[in-house]
Formats: sequence, structure tokens, C-alpha cells
Amino acid sequence: MQEESAEEFTYRTEYKKKSIRSYVIRAGRMTEGQRRAFDNYWGEYGLSLFDGPLEPRAVFGREAPLVLEIGFGMGDSLLAMAEAEPDKDFIGIEVHPPGVGRLINNAGKLGLKNLRVYMADAVDVLNDCIADGSLDRFQLYFPDPWHKKKHHKRRIVQSEFVRLICAKLKAGGLLHMATDWENYAEHMLEVLEAESLLENTAGKNRYSERPEFRPETKFERRGQRLGHGVWDLLYQRL
Ligand SMILES: C[S@@+](CC[C@H](N)C(=O)[O-])C[C@H]1O[C@@H](n2cnc3c(N)ncnc32)[C@H](O)[C@@H]1O
Repeated sequence: MQEESAEEFTYRTEYKKKSIRSYVIRAGRMTEGQRRAFDNYWGEYGLSLFDGPLEPRAVFGREAPLVLEIGFGMGDSLLAMAEAEPDKDFIGIEVHPPGVGRLINNAGKLGLKNLRVYMADAVDVLNDCIADGSLDRFQLYFPDPWHKKKHHKRRIVQSEFVRLICAKLKAGGLLHMATDWENYAEHMLEVLEAESLLENTAGKNRYSERPEFRPETKFERRGQRLGHGVWDLLYQRL
């Protein structure tokens, strides 16, 4: 039987066509282990856009602070956070099938109970599944920087996107972003400072230190090898 590519796999499952996307589905086949993870663990960890609005209490079987991360990549930092903060429930969203496979495989081996994942476009998940005022923390780490000016419209951080995140956060909830691309950091700062529902926890127009709860991510380490800096932005929803 011919092996299915990552692109075909995503199209077959949850991928929706959009005019402007914040990502490209990267070529790259899944390892056997990642593929098997879908058979073994998708039932336990996978959430579907088609299930409609998420009911965290029903999904996790408890009432706990809810953290949502977009674009977890290969998932190791999200896994580490879910392990380190067992009193919180974590929702990860990623379109890259090998990363989803790796995360649910590792979560399954550890028997983690406080993590679920969507393999879909995060904007669709936010609009269709996540209730307003339901998130205690929102995380976006090293989103695709889209370096070229003509591609800046593909950056996920735009005013409209930030407005959507604000609607999903509880009052007092945290919004946390990080990037290793200075021009994107400046753009994030400008967009976040302009949002009247947010207050910069580091003071107006300032970047934050990396908070203890955020482990280094894979993409961050790659940037460090290339000599990039890192900029964290931490805001509170008023
Ligand atoms: C540059 S990688 C960073 C991955 C990880 N956060 C890290 O720091 O190692 C950005 C990730 O965001 C994902 N992504 C981009 N736009 C997305 C969207 N709209 N919905 C879900 N995932 C998205 C991409 O597939 C990619 O894996």
C-alpha cells in the first residue's frame, strides 16, 4: 500500500480551505510510531471541530483552569507544561500531523489526563468550539514568522485575531506570546498595546522575561543556534 503523505492525511481529516493561512502544511512523512499513535491514542486525546462547542467539564471530568496553546509544533514543550501543572487542563491545536502524533504518543505513554488536542486550523477551533470567557491562559510560542513583507498578512497575530483571543479569555486571564524574530516581536507589541482589553504585565511597551512556566521550545532552540534573540510578551485580560 502506498504511504500517505502528511498533506494528504491532513486533507483527509480536518483541514479546511482558506484564502489566507498562517501556515503551510510541511512535507514530511510520519514515522511509524507517530502513525501508530493515531490508532492507539487519538480516541483518548483527539478532539474534533465537528463535535461543536467544547465542554471542558465533560471532557476532563473536572473543573480546572483551562490553558490553550496554538501551534505546539512537535509538542514537547506543551507536554512538559501539562506534566508540570497537573492542576490545569491543556488544549493544544496544531495542523502538522507528525507533531500531533508525537504529542499524543508521549502523552499516552505517560498516561496524562489533563491534555487534549485538535488537529485543525486554530481560528476555526476558536470560533466553533471554544466558549467566550472560558480560558485562563492563552499561549502562542514562535508562530511562523513569515519574514517577507509581502507575506506579513499571513502572520497569525493581527488585531482581529487578538480581539478573538480576548473574547475567549476570562477576565484576569493571561495572554502569552513569544517569538525569535525581532520584526514580528515589534508587530506583536504594537498590536497588543493597541488592544484596550489587555494590560501589559511588564509595563507599557515592554517585553517580559520568560516566565518559569514556559519551557524552551524546539523552534526556540533552533533560533538560538542561529544566533536569534527571544522576545516574550505577557498580557493580562482586563
Ligand atoms: C514555527 S512553528 C513553532 C512550533 C512550536 N511552538 C515551537 O516553538 O517549537 C509554528 C507552528 O504553528 C503551527 N500553526 C500555524 N498556524 C496555525 C493555525 N492557524 N492553526 C494551528 N496550527 C498552526 C504550524 O503548523 C507550526 O507547527
